[in-house]
Amino acid sequence: MSVLAGRRIVLGVSGGIAAYKAIEVCRRLVDLGAHVSPVLTEASRHFVGETTFSALASEPVQTSLWDEASPIPHTKLGQGADLVVVCPATARLLGTYAAGIADDLLTATLLATRAPVLVCPAMHTEMWEHPAVQDNLALLARRGVHMVPPEEGRLAGGDIGKGRLADPAVIVEAIERLFVPAELQGWKVVVSSGGTREAIDPVRFIGNRSSGKQGHAIAAEADRRGAKVTLVTTVDRPITDSIVQVRVESAEQMRQAMMTAATDADLVVMAAAVADFRPVDPAAGKIKKDQGVPQVILEPTPDILAALGALKPQGQILVGFAAETSDLRENALGKLTRKGADLIVANDVSAPQVGFEHDTNQVVILVRRPGADEVEVIDVPLDDKRRIAASVLDVAASLRSGTPATGSDRT
Ligand code: CTP
Repeated sequence: MSVLAGRRIVLGVSGGIAAYKAIEVCRRLVDLGAHVSPVLTEASRHFVGETTFSALASEPVQTSLWDEASPIPHTKLGQGADLVVVCPATARLLGTYAAGIADDLLTATLLATRAPVLVCPAMHTEMWEHPAVQDNLALLARRGVHMVPPEEGRLAGGDIGKGRLADPAVIVEAIERLFVPAELQGWKVVVSSGGTREAIDPVRFIGNRSSGKQGHAIAAEADRRGAKVTLVTTVDRPITDSIVQVRVESAEQMRQAMMTAATDADLVVMAAAVADFRPVDPAAGKIKKDQGVPQVILEPTPDILAALGALKPQGQILVGFAAETSDLRENALGKLTRKGADLIVANDVSAPQVGFEHDTNQVVILVRRPGADEVEVIDVPLDDKRRIAASVLDVAASLRSGTPATGSDRT
């Protein structure tokens, strides 16, 4: 379930050309289960239609302080909100809010709420850079107002510069962050993702089908929960800037990067699909066809998870994965014991919509709690990889706090 499910969000829209993007923000929030109450300023109605918002939001648009049906709409909106978002926030709106002036429904709601407030400024570069705007933003930041800064890009009228409203996906991500429990605050988390590539020659390699999606989802979720995250990865997928990425290719490179990053980590997750074998002696130059069919001699790669398990510092939580096509629980149990992990996330990669390349996964989590004789087994039904990541981190965090995760049995 999304962290936004059931959250009451007032979406304030002030009068800038970027107001059209607030429609997409509204739609995404509603899709994620939020209850969205749109409040449009007089000026914003020059840019976007009320009907569009009313059709997409959870309740009709409100625009005025002087509504006969609801005589004090700003206190009702402000007191009932879990969050007030202003998207876009014009220079005028920011100035009015910073000065504590309540001269329309949106600014009155901003002053009448004790809920967190997130502003998403959008304006021309000259206005964005003006000391008055920057001072107002600094003042609002000191008062605890959150901000999604504008991006560089094409502005109204064709100019290019800083001031363009952030992408709706980025804004919704920032909104979600405000509701995610910061239970991993202060944790250092190291995650590996993707499949390793073992060179046969400079152009060919032994690889596997791993897309890196599950490992990336775990890194992103740990970041959302407040952890400092390092991601050791073989794949080039978009990820938030706050995550430190270490790009590697082979199992040996991944081993070195993981062993270094894991020394002082609180939680280490080996989600990567490490190739089990590598050519003993990769050719320095491209093997040509006329040299005949090459005889590639293979050797085992180092088992990184087992090496991390052997050197695990006191208190560190180590999570491994198990990609299986049969005997899921038995094989996963063997890996839990053999590799010294606290937790194994096992999936049957031959099942439909599960594992490699898919956006969804279905897993069984095996947990060995400190001092417990029995291994706990938690079934996580088919879901998108982000929610699977949340379940894995819920269980990992419960190991630190000592509370058993919900939905578990023992084996
Ligand atoms: N792993 C590792 N180093 C390897 C092989 C695997 O660190 N050389 C890790 C994976 O990242 C995963 C776990 O070990 O967390 C289990 O990987 P998996 O491929 O399921 O199992 P293997 O140990 O490779 O055994 P098998 O292929 O026989 O199932």
